[in-house]
Amino acid sequence: MGDLNQSIENHYLKEGLYEDIIHRLKEQNIALDTVKRSDIAGVDEFHVRGAAVSRELANGIDLQGASVLDVGCGLGGPCRMLADEYGCQVTGIDLSHEYIRTASNLSKLVQLGDKTTFTQGDATALPFEDNAFDVVWTQHVQMNIPDKKKLYSEMHRVLKTGGHFLFYDILKKGDEEISYPMPWASTVYLSFLFKAEEMDHLLQDLGMIHKQTIDQTQAGIGFFDILVARLKEFGPPKMGLNVLMGETTKPKLMNLLRHLKEGKLELKSGVYKKS
Ligand SMILES: C[S@@+](CC[C@H](N)C(=O)[O-])C[C@H]1O[C@@H](n2cnc3c(N)ncnc32)[C@H](O)[C@@H]1O
Repeated sequence: MGDLNQSIENHYLKEGLYEDIIHRLKEQNIALDTVKRSDIAGVDEFHVRGAAVSRELANGIDLQGASVLDVGCGLGGPCRMLADEYGCQVTGIDLSHEYIRTASNLSKLVQLGDKTTFTQGDATALPFEDNAFDVVWTQHVQMNIPDKKKLYSEMHRVLKTGGHFLFYDILKKGDEEISYPMPWASTVYLSFLFKAEEMDHLLQDLGMIHKQTIDQTQAGIGFFDILVARLKEFGPPKMGLNVLMGETTKPKLMNLLRHLKEGKLELKSGVYKKS
């Protein structure tokens, strides 16, 4: 597991990420003491449809004032949204030291340092007490994790009884081969896709009650079509996911878009409740 986690951390690694974001803000003449969440929104939500889908997911339950754990929080954009717009106290955990450093600094930059906490760690060994959070939230993370049972057991363990599990994920529909690179994996060796029904079985076996599932695939395709057209016309934006994926942005996005259109992959969000 150590080697795999190191390879996954290397896959996402972009050294000096926070400094690069600061540099890009300055290039746009944004004074650092005036930075708003919207100024960094293009880069700090590393999933299909960014802040829009996070807000939809948040609106699936009454989240106001909840304590939330974001598992695989990346740069912490969703954590800041939940803190700022829903009054949540949010903890983010991620494997990547560089993402956690960047997430903490970005929260301080937009004056949300006191409402968000970021910890480096592995989603399959969460360093939290049992029944610690009202909500466990995860977006586009499980594809990197082979031991699904461990992952969902850990998320279930730290969730309070009666608390909600919210997910937004990329799932495979059949068993056809997938092309790489993908945003989460340069090669098949870092990718552990599974199916929606397998996730549902795991969660229900743990005692989670299914509340809602939304097929987000068409919305994701629509978002990508617009993004790809913009990339063709204007080139990479100053503050987009290209900051995270660099030169491989285009092949990664095109592979994902093609597989969504072909029906090999799908996007789903949903809500479960811990009984
Ligand atoms: C595609 S990014 C999504 C980030 C964030 N959830 C978001 O939507 O903005 C996937 C994230 O999962 C993290 N990750 C992968 N495997 C992990 C693990 N075993 N434990 C914790 N985080 C992990 C990566 O470091 C990366 O930040």
